[in-house]
Amino acid sequence: MSKPLQTPACSHQELRKTSYLTRKIRFKKQPTSAIIFAFEDSVYAYINHCVHMHRPLNCEQDAIFDESGLYLRCSMHGFIFDPKTGACQSPLCFGQRLQSLCLEEIDGTLYFAGKHLTLID
Ligand code: FES
Repeated sequence: MSKPLQTPACSHQELRKTSYLTRKIRFKKQPTSAIIFAFEDSVYAYINHCVHMHRPLNCEQDAIFDESGLYLRCSMHGFIFDPKTGACQSPLCFGQRLQSLCLEEIDGTLYFAGKHLTLID
C-alpha cells in the first residue's frame, strides 16, 4: 500500500548547493514560510518566524546561521537558536522554540511530513 501524497520541500541535491532554502507555505491555514537546512548530517525545517518579534530569520541578511556556523541567528536583533531543537539561546527568549516542521526523505526528495501544511505557488 503506498503512502498518501505528501508536500515536497526540496531535493537533497538542491539543499547541498546552499546553506538554506526557503519555501512559501500555508501552515494551519496561515501563509508563512519555512526554512530548510542541513546541519551535522541531518536536515531540519522550521517556520521562518523568530520567537522574538516574528520576523523571518533572514529578514535583514541572506543568512540564517551565525559566523561560527553552529547556531541559527535571526538577522533582525541577533538572537541565536540551536539548529537541532530550534531553542533560543539568547537571554530574553531563552528556551522558546522555533516551530519545527517534520521532514521525510524518499528517494532523494525531502517532503514535509506533517499535517496542516501546503505549499504556496
Ligand atoms: S526579531 Fe529576531 S531577534 Fe528580534
